[in-house]
Amino acid sequence: MNNKLVYVCDGGDCNEKGSGNLFTKLKVHFDEVDPHEKRIKIRRYPCFGGCEQGINITIWPDKVFYSLVKESDLPDIITHLEGESAPVTRLTGKVRPDVEEFLWQMLDSPY
Ligand code: FES
Repeated sequence: MNNKLVYVCDGGDCNEKGSGNLFTKLKVHFDEVDPHEKRIKIRRYPCFGGCEQGINITIWPDKVFYSLVKESDLPDIITHLEGESAPVTRLTGKVRPDVEEFLWQMLDSPY
């Protein structure tokens, strides 16, 4: 399994919808199965600019942009992150393409 960087939105809109809770649940899960973050790092992100489609969670370098994420989606997302399934397509493609592209360009940038 390759290294993945998972960002959970920490912006106002996503927080109001409960992103803090999703962040904690993902963190607790991966602290148990991958305590030294050898495969998966879970981090907060200030705001992706796709606030109306929150809660947003992104996965890099896979370039998977999950939107409208609810707590009930976490098991499917975890299965994907653990490399046991393809991305959860019902949660992708919800934000404008330029919002996604901007994020990937930034994360791809070496600076
Ligand atoms: S608040 Fe989450 S994308 Fe802006």
